[in-house]
Amino acid sequence: MTTTAPASTDSKLTEQQYEVRRRRTFAIISHPDAGKTTLTEKLLLYGGAIQMAGAVHAKKNRRQATSDWMELEKQRGISITSTVLQFPYSGHVLNLLDTPGHQDFSEDTYRTLVAADSALMLIDNAKGVEPQTKKLFHVCRQRGIPIFTFVNKMDRPGKDPLELMTELEDVLGIRSVPVVWPIGDGDLFRGVYDRLNRQLHLFERGDGSTASRTVETDLTGEAVDSLLGKAAADKLREDLELLDVAGEPLVPEKVLMGEITPMFFGSAMTNFGVELLLSKFIEMSPPPMPRLSEKGDVFPEESEFRGFVFKIQANMDPNHRDRIAFLRVVSGRFEKDMTAFNARSNKSIRLTRPQKLFAAERETVEEAYPGDIIGLTNPGAFQLGDTVCTGPALRFQGFPRFAPEHFAVLRNRKTEKYKQFQKGIQQLSEEGVVQLFHERNAARTEPILGVVGQLQFEVIQFRLLSEYGVETHLDRTPYSFARWATGTPEAIQNAFWGSGTRRVEDDDGHLVVLFESEWGMNYLI
Ligand code: G4P
Repeated sequence: MTTTAPASTDSKLTEQQYEVRRRRTFAIISHPDAGKTTLTEKLLLYGGAIQMAGAVHAKKNRRQATSDWMELEKQRGISITSTVLQFPYSGHVLNLLDTPGHQDFSEDTYRTLVAADSALMLIDNAKGVEPQTKKLFHVCRQRGIPIFTFVNKMDRPGKDPLELMTELEDVLGIRSVPVVWPIGDGDLFRGVYDRLNRQLHLFERGDGSTASRTVETDLTGEAVDSLLGKAAADKLREDLELLDVAGEPLVPEKVLMGEITPMFFGSAMTNFGVELLLSKFIEMSPPPMPRLSEKGDVFPEESEFRGFVFKIQANMDPNHRDRIAFLRVVSGRFEKDMTAFNARSNKSIRLTRPQKLFAAERETVEEAYPGDIIGLTNPGAFQLGDTVCTGPALRFQGFPRFAPEHFAVLRNRKTEKYKQFQKGIQQLSEEGVVQLFHERNAARTEPILGVVGQLQFEVIQFRLLSEYGVETHLDRTPYSFARWATGTPEAIQNAFWGSGTRRVEDDDGHLVVLFESEWGMNYLI
């Protein structure tokens, strides 16, 4: 089955079309410990991007401080900065956006998904759908991007695959269509059956290592009985019959609309089922998609260069206290040193020193195509959501802000540092590290900070101290939900806000209501 034109050397394609069609830009969404690092590593191995298994894990474990504030990262042994990895596979160019997913879960995690054209949802077979997976899934769902599911750790005992399918439907509201079907799990895991190509992929355990073997097979034949054993073969036939009769068909359009999720099973650690996933993912996932601007859709094949800034990262290089703006290319071709226009600031900017990033290592890029991510180092020139373009100015629409879930009042400890304090929080807010809220009709001296992940509070205090020399004190508040309220002045005046709420305003003066409980919020809504 093919849902999109594969990369082709078709001489009728222009270079731009060829480069667009062979690109895939995606993110892996998962809950901590589901195996994202392990899977990423295996994907990179197929791309030849790393020489040795273990390299990504090594990075995860042996964090090197690449700047002062990353000292915090080192102390906590976690990754605060997310990375963008580009690797080739089978004539394609894959851009893998890494989403921070541990305690360092933050707005950045969500924002990264705005730059992706599809997502790979990774699920631990024993744990099923976990909280962070659920949150990330909903962001993908809202964007309507295709979501592929990989059920990992099949070499360990887990939930019944049919039960996992039901869980996806009940918890996430998405129907899954198994592209491969597992045969057993844990010690009894024998491999997977590829329903599209009608092939068995056998999981063979060797002495400490594992291998796999592919067998083209007619399930009715006795060969399957002797390969799997009669009981496992019967169970497989029964399961497949059930899926054929009662399961959802794999309709490519529904996959592309994010209405159904193609489902895979395997074991990242033993590198089983990963290549199968990768090859089918490339076939079924979309190349870079058009994006909506105020002047209509912008298509990747268009010749003008256009992109949007989805993430700003500060101080990755201690020698240049710089900020990198991560830009996703939407159309045209990016060339080093080109001059482009920022519609928000109404300024032309020469895009010098563009960078491609592999974790903390940088490499200068000469050119980039739709789907690619580049890091721009122009100080202060970009803000989150900015559109950068050549030709007639335009702005992409719908760059979302995500509702924070933790709130605290930040106080400056030393009056003489007032200016630095204001400058620091303003810059961190522009970077999108934090959202600022204020008491209504009051001086904006002590903002209420809103963050998506708790660890962001520590990051903010740490950075204010190390970069601006400002000591701060943080008072947590009991609020966990925020909603922007709109309505006529009378409606707002007369609304009954209830207890457990607090009305504040955002940096632009819009009314925001903070709630202690989800119940209270739903009641008011
Ligand atoms: P994460 O990035 O999503 O947090 O997960 P990570 O890849 O670090 O994997 C979490 C743990 O799960 C690791 O074990 C890893 O080896 C294990 N794991 C990943 N994939 C599989 C799999 O297919 N089968 C099995 N059995 N285990 C898997 P750990 O003991 O926490 O770390 P490590 O010492 O192995 O690195």
